[in-house]
Amino acid sequence: MQNIILLAPPAAGKGTLANYLCEKFGYVSISTGDLLREEAKKNKELEKLMHSGKLIDDNIVFELLKAKLNKLGNTPYILDGFPRTESQAVMYGELIQNMSKKLGVVIYLDVDKNELKTRVTTRLICPNCKATYSIREKRLAPKKDFVCDKCESKLIQREDDKEEIFDKRYEEYLTSTSPLIDYYDSKGVLVKISDTDMSLVFEKVSSLVNNND
Ligand code: AP5
Ligand code: MG
Repeated sequence: MQNIILLAPPAAGKGTLANYLCEKFGYVSISTGDLLREEAKKNKELEKLMHSGKLIDDNIVFELLKAKLNKLGNTPYILDGFPRTESQAVMYGELIQNMSKKLGVVIYLDVDKNELKTRVTTRLICPNCKATYSIREKRLAPKKDFVCDKCESKLIQREDDKEEIFDKRYEEYLTSTSPLIDYYDSKGVLVKISDTDMSLVFEKVSSLVNNND
């Protein structure tokens, strides 16, 4: 199985897709957002920055990612939300070269801004096991209202899932992250998925993973 980078705007479904691929194919997923939210519990300044929708310093994110990758061994992995700037992409390229790991495939989820905004305001997350739910999309809803299917913790809304903060996150995405679409396309590793239906997205990505065993 190839390593996967999920490149997409906020609320495009990176975490949801990563979770599906982990369960179906045995990938390990690394979400820099989740890693940073854990760090932010001990660091008020970081917490404030994340709640504002700004990107976090490249070096801080990179160190967290590096520590995770070092522990992974040879298990194929998914990067959910990394790299997010060209500088992170360059640092990552050098790191995997030194670790003799392969870049794999970059999946770009192309989702319309209005749809993203609806997704972000109808999302619930589990603060304990990080599972993600939708109160709009029945197939992604929790079985019991506001209760995590996996660990039974009470579900909450993410602090940065407010409409005005979503706009900031989207701006950050356009300015800093979207140039990576061309960056990886020029390396011939980018696959663009423009479907929004969840089953179609899962189906396309599954066949991509299967075809590249
Ligand atoms: P991060 O946690 O990565 O947030 P994000 O990129 O804004 O992405 P989200 O987690 O909001 O969305 P997602 O794409 O995972 O969508 P999900 O699957 O939940 O980053 C947060 C912050 O951390 C950043 O703002 C920044 O401060 C910092 N950070 C993180 N990485 C960084 C980095 N590398 N460098 C610097 N700073 C960094 O789905 C969304 C909703 O839609 C859910 O409710 C889900 O159930 C639903 N859904 C999913 N798919 C579908 C579908 N196909 N149809 C309908 N609903 C769907
Ligand atoms: Mg996510």
